Amino acid sequence: MAIDFDLIKEIKSRADIVDVISSYLPSVQKKGRNFVAICPFHDDHDPSMQINKEKQIFNCFVCHSSGDVFSFVQKYDKCTFEEAVRKVCEIINFDDPRLHKKTYVRPVDQNLVPIYNCINELQKLYVYGLTTDEGKVARDYLDNRKINDEQRAKFSLGYAINDGKMTIEYLKQKGFSLKNIEDTGIALAQTSGMADHNSGRLIFPIKDQNGQVVGFSARRLNDNNDEAKYVNSPETKIFTKGNILYNYNLAKQTAKHDGFIYVVEGFMDVFAFDTIGITSVVALMSTKLTKQHIELLRRLGVEIRLCLDGDKPGQEAMMKLMSQLDEANLPYRLVSVPGEIRDPDEILKQDGEEKLKSFVTTLVDPFNFAINYYQNISHLGSVDDRKKVVAHFAPTISNMKSKLEQDDYIFKLSEVTGFSSGAIKEYIRDYVKSSKGSSEDSGRSFEEYRKEIDNEIPKEMRRLANAEKLMLGQMIVSKEAVDYFNQNIKYFIIEDYRILSNFINEFVSANGDIDPSLLVSFISESEVPNKDEIVSLLTTFSFEKDKVFNPQIIRDCKSAIVEERDRISSRSQLRQALEGKTPRDKARLAGDYIAYTNKNKNKAK
Ligand code: UTP
Ligand code: MN
Repeated sequence: MAIDFDLIKEIKSRADIVDVISSYLPSVQKKGRNFVAICPFHDDHDPSMQINKEKQIFNCFVCHSSGDVFSFVQKYDKCTFEEAVRKVCEIINFDDPRLHKKTYVRPVDQNLVPIYNCINELQKLYVYGLTTDEGKVARDYLDNRKINDEQRAKFSLGYAINDGKMTIEYLKQKGFSLKNIEDTGIALAQTSGMADHNSGRLIFPIKDQNGQVVGFSARRLNDNNDEAKYVNSPETKIFTKGNILYNYNLAKQTAKHDGFIYVVEGFMDVFAFDTIGITSVVALMSTKLTKQHIELLRRLGVEIRLCLDGDKPGQEAMMKLMSQLDEANLPYRLVSVPGEIRDPDEILKQDGEEKLKSFVTTLVDPFNFAINYYQNISHLGSVDDRKKVVAHFAPTISNMKSKLEQDDYIFKLSEVTGFSSGAIKEYIRDYVKSSKGSSEDSGRSFEEYRKEIDNEIPKEMRRLANAEKLMLGQMIVSKEAVDYFNQNIKYFIIEDYRILSNFINEFVSANGDIDPSLLVSFISESEVPNKDEIVSLLTTFSFEKDKVFNPQIIRDCKSAIVEERDRISSRSQLRQALEGKTPRDKARLAGDYIAYTNKNKNKAK
C-alpha cells in the first residue's frame, strides 16, 4: 500500500534531514551554509557528503549518492521507500493513523515464504522440545551454565529431539515439502532417511535484524570432543552467516540508548553480558568481521567495544578487526585486561558478576591496545618487525591533534620498538609528507564529475543536452519556468531529462508549486525503473550553487533547443519516423534514434 502523499509531505515538514542523518552518522558537522559528513556509501575519509538544510537534500560529490531524507534511510538501511518513511517516523517520534491503515507486511520474496513458514514451525518444535522429558538433558545443561528461564525465553532457546527423522516427519505432516525442509538447512533431501542434523543438541536460533529466525546453531551437550561443539546451519537462501550478528535484533534497540555496542565471539558471551545487565552486545559467531557486519554496526551510530577472547587467536583477531574499523572510520575501544585469557562467560562462571562487570568496563583505546599487544609478543626481534610496528602507528600518531599526546605515544612506541623517539618523529614527518601527496587526487571535484556525465552524451547532442539541462535547472527553481516549458518547449529529447520533466509537471499540477526535496519523495514513491538515477540527477542539479530563476536563460535555452531539434530531425530517416507523432512520441523516437546511431558508431570503432 502506497503511503498517502499528503502524509509524506507532513512527515517531511517535521523530519529535518540534518537531524535524521545525524542520528545515523556521528560525523555530521556544520560547514558554511551546508552540513558535511563522512559519506557512508563509499570508503570515505574526508567528509564528502553535503547536506543542504535549506533544500532538505544531500549529495556525495565522490560517489554521487544523493536524495532527500527518505533516500538516505533507504540507501543506508537498504530498504524500500515505504520502510524508509516508517523508519523516519520512528526516529522523529511521529505517528499517524494513516501509517497503520493496513497491516504493514515486510515485502519478502514470495519464493522464500514457505521456507520462513517451515523454519518458524521448526523453531516452535525446538522450543517445545526443551520442555519434554527428553529435553531434561538440555535443561540440566542450561541450569549448569546458569542460563535462567527468562534468558531461555528471551533468546528462544530450544532442544532438538534425538530422533531426527521424526522432526522431518513432523514438518512433512504440517504440509511442508522435502524441498522446503531442505531449504531450512537442517537436512539434505538427497540422503535416504533424511534426518535433522541438529538432533540431540541444544538449539540457539539465529535471528536476522528483524527477529526472524533464519538459521540455527546447535551445541553438543556431552563433552565428547570428537563431535563438533557447535553445528551451524549451512548457507541457505535465507541464511548467510556473514550477514548476521547474533543478538543484533535485540541489541539494536538498547545500543542507541546505551551509546555503545559490545562485539564478542560467542553465544555464551552474549548470555554472560545479559546476566550482568548489558543487552547491547552482539556475537560474531567466529572471529571474523565482514563488510555487512560493519554496516550493521555503523547504523547504530554508537561506540563499538571489541571484546574477543583473551587467548592468542582472540587477540590477533582484535588487531585485524581494529584495522577494519579504522578503515571504516568507526569509533571503537577494546576490552583489555593484560594477562586475562578467559572469555567473558568463563570469567562470570569462575569469578562472578562483579568481576565480569569490571572486566568489560576496562577499556583501552586502539593505540594502547596495539602497544600492549606488541609488548606481549616476544618475537618482535628483527628490525623489519619493529619497523612494521612503527609503520602501523604512523597514521594514528600523525592524526593526533595534541602535540603532547603525540609525544606521549611516540615515547611509548620507542619503548616497545627500541627505536629512538627522534627517529620515530622523523619517520612520522616523512609519512605525513608522502600521504599528503597521494590524498590530493583521491576525490574528484564536482565539476569533473559533471564533465564526465556530459561526455557520455554523444558529441552531436551536447549543445542540445546542455540547453535541456539548463532549462531543467530553471524548472527546478521556478514554476514560471515550468509554465514556459509547457508552452514553448513541451518536451526534452534526452531520456532522463524527459522523465524528470514529466515528474516535474505531474508534481506541479498536483501540488501547485515546485519543491525539489518533496519532488524527490514523489519520484521515489513512483514505479519508474531508473528512479534512482532520476533522483540523483535532480539532487545534483539542485545542489549547483546559486541556481535562481533567470528569464534570459530560459529564452536562450528555448532557441538552442529548437535549433538543435530542427537540425537533428532534419535527418531523413528520422523525419519520416516522426511524421504525425505527438510531441512526446517525437521526443522518445528522436532520443532512441540518437542512442541507436551512437551505439553503432561505438561498435564500428
Ligand atoms: P568458542 O569456542 O569461544 O565458544 O567459540 P563459546 O562461546 O565459548 O562456547 P562454549 O562456552 O564452549 O559453549 C566462539 C563461537 O564460535 C562458534 C560459535 O558461534 C561460538 O559461539 N563456533 C565455535 C562454532 O561455530 N563451531 C565450533 O565448533 C566452535
Ligand atoms: Mn566459552
